[in-house]
Amino acid sequence: MGARPLIIDCDPGQDDAIALLMAIASPEEFDLLGVTAVAGNVPLAKTEANARRIRDLAGRPELPVYAGCPRPMVRAPVTAEAVHGPSGIDGADLPEPSRPVEGAHAVDFLVQRLAKTSRPVTLATLGPLTNVALAIIKNPTILDNVAEIVAMGGAVGLGNVTPAAEFNIYADPHAAHVVFEAGVPLTMIGLDITRQAIATSARIEAIRSLGTPPAAAVCGMLEYYGARTTATYRHGPPLHDPCVIAYLLKPELFNGQDMWVAIELAGEHSQGRTVCDLYGRSGAPNARVLERVDADGFFALLNERLARLSVSTP
Ligand code: RIB
Ligand code: CA
Repeated sequence: MGARPLIIDCDPGQDDAIALLMAIASPEEFDLLGVTAVAGNVPLAKTEANARRIRDLAGRPELPVYAGCPRPMVRAPVTAEAVHGPSGIDGADLPEPSRPVEGAHAVDFLVQRLAKTSRPVTLATLGPLTNVALAIIKNPTILDNVAEIVAMGGAVGLGNVTPAAEFNIYADPHAAHVVFEAGVPLTMIGLDITRQAIATSARIEAIRSLGTPPAAAVCGMLEYYGARTTATYRHGPPLHDPCVIAYLLKPELFNGQDMWVAIELAGEHSQGRTVCDLYGRSGAPNARVLERVDADGFFALLNERLARLSVSTP
């Protein structure tokens, strides 16, 4: 089978950063073709620089990072500094990136790389879907070369940025609509499942015991991120984005069901909601919506992969 070709689109963000570390630590499973950054948790200039900092931390300074869209397709930009801090990865005291961002725009990289690939490419999306949606709009034929999209976003139940909507979808609902209607295999990893992957104090200490610079940075980020989410998550912060990488590594840790999912675009109080048809009455399924995760198995996998990263910034 060999390593699957993978592109990660992200908005680092502490949880994006941990997901990137997991993916970089898994070269047997992933042929990581590149990382594309999008505006989301913090503005694009910070998300792309944070992605470069994380690749240095993981000892992969040559991994290409592409800057993408600085704003959503239609709605006004929203960010999440209150949760992630002004840098987006507060809690990890990382040096300036060792290499510049790539010259190509992320949307052009996605279009060009997917147009010429010899093997279908998996897209792991960890932020708002602006880059991926615009790549699909610019050249819809790239979808023929997309193996699947695994997206952290949405919720069957309560949102997080509003009662109705989860941040990644809320931040660019029109982009999410394009992706959810694209007709490629799509797995939605929403809040209902990521809220089961809680970084409790004991789990953070288990990571800290790895004793490496990447592990220390992860603990710093989790402690910062957790301190800002205690009102919602008393036992520790949820690891939203790492669930995407864990699913790609060990799908047996997860279960879910196929269902019709629509993105609410017009609701005054519900814009950005993933309307999930649990009862199979609204239309043909267009997504696999994950519902359960083996949380202990998830954290065991996270630790095992982080332990492989014993290097720090060169
Ligand atoms: O709602 C959680 C998602 O929004 C995560 O991807 C987090 O990084 C933010 O992008
Ligand atoms: Ca994210």
